[in-house]
Amino acid sequence: MHVLSVFGTRPEAIKMAPVVKALSAEKGIRSITCVTGQHRTMLDQVLALFDIKPDFDLAVMAPNQTLNGLASRVMAGLDDIFAEVRPDYVLVHGDTTTAMAASLAAAHRNIKIGHVEAGLRTYDLAKPWPEELNRRVIDVAATKLFAPTETSADNLRAERLGGEILVTGNTVIDALKETVGRIDNDPAIRTRLEAQFSFLDPSRRVLLVTGHRRESFGDGFLNICKALAELSRRADLQIVYPVHLNPNVSGPVHELLSGKPNIHLIEPQEYLSFVYLMNRADIILTDSGGVQEEAPSLGKPVLVMRDVTERPEAVAAGVVRLVGTDAQRITGEVERLLGDAAYYSGFARILNPYGDGLASKRIAASLAGRDIAPFAI
Ligand code: UD1
Ligand code: UDP
Repeated sequence: MHVLSVFGTRPEAIKMAPVVKALSAEKGIRSITCVTGQHRTMLDQVLALFDIKPDFDLAVMAPNQTLNGLASRVMAGLDDIFAEVRPDYVLVHGDTTTAMAASLAAAHRNIKIGHVEAGLRTYDLAKPWPEELNRRVIDVAATKLFAPTETSADNLRAERLGGEILVTGNTVIDALKETVGRIDNDPAIRTRLEAQFSFLDPSRRVLLVTGHRRESFGDGFLNICKALAELSRRADLQIVYPVHLNPNVSGPVHELLSGKPNIHLIEPQEYLSFVYLMNRADIILTDSGGVQEEAPSLGKPVLVMRDVTERPEAVAAGVVRLVGTDAQRITGEVERLLGDAAYYSGFARILNPYGDGLASKRIAASLAGRDIAPFAI
């Protein structure tokens, strides 16, 4: 059986890396990978770390690309590859334009689709935009729906979709476990990471920040920067912010925060370094989907700069809190965590609602036609 995995952005690559590995270990499967190159630098960082050499690279990224330009380049590029590879299954991940366009292209060619990370929903097409639309389109078209949790599987069941639903856990936990293991077991890597982040002051607490959601472009990012500027005045805190390469993010962030004492604006980090930073952080402030899933596994409190989330499990467990993009609210929530030790320790608990590290093996086994025991918390 030919399984063609298609991905193109940083988070898809991190979450598909363990799946690609698990597929290669299946005797009955020929695993083929195609990266779209929706991201270039941030994708290549992940491919290098996990030693993935794609069979195809569509290299579609353009500076400040439009969604339609991107989607059309992905669909046209994949059509040629489908003709060459004749895949039995196209495997996509999550909710990016790469994943949505790849699914449409596969559906137009009557090729079966497997959707990794199926069933996440906010039921608000504007939040996140365009991801809520993308994942629903993919789920309608998919034959195999690999839901990370029971909650996401319940969403799919309620929608009465045609695909087979399997609860697998989220593959991000597979990638995280492997990466934490590499850091823990290799003193040379640890020494390198410590040297790389020797600018961090051990006497100050660390606030790690990431952000990139399209619905926060404009006022949202201005507010986030205002909150960070305010927080940077605290002598007990240092802010580390790997800035996303989207010009709608990097533009205002560099303009408003460059040169501020206590704020380290750094390049997007390769995954190993970012996992190290998450482990060093006292608080994580983010709008990232993947980080919301990883941080509870590391016992780090997360404040999510959004109004809704498709990942309600950690919010319900009390280790992730939605804080929106209001500057005062963000500042207040960070200060509460810094100032109230009992409140902080209620948040800083290690939990694994999103996976057990075996999601990729379940996905590969299912594609190979074997029965799998689902992920259960
Ligand atoms: C994309 C996904 C989003 C995902 C996010 C993860 C869509 C519509 N959006 O958003 O769902 O959560 O990735 O980070 O699929 N750029 C570079 N180099 C890079 C990456 C990006 O220069 O390595 C710049 C380019 O100018 C590019 C722009 O960022 O045109 C936007 O990239 P794009 O993938 O369209 O959107 P993201 O905001 O990254
Ligand atoms: N990440 C990384 N380097 C960074 C910032 C994030 O490797 O500088 C990782 C993070 O650990 C997570 C993923 O990238 O696994 C999240 O990517 P992003 O926030 O871009 O996208 P989202 O998850 O929101 O789709």
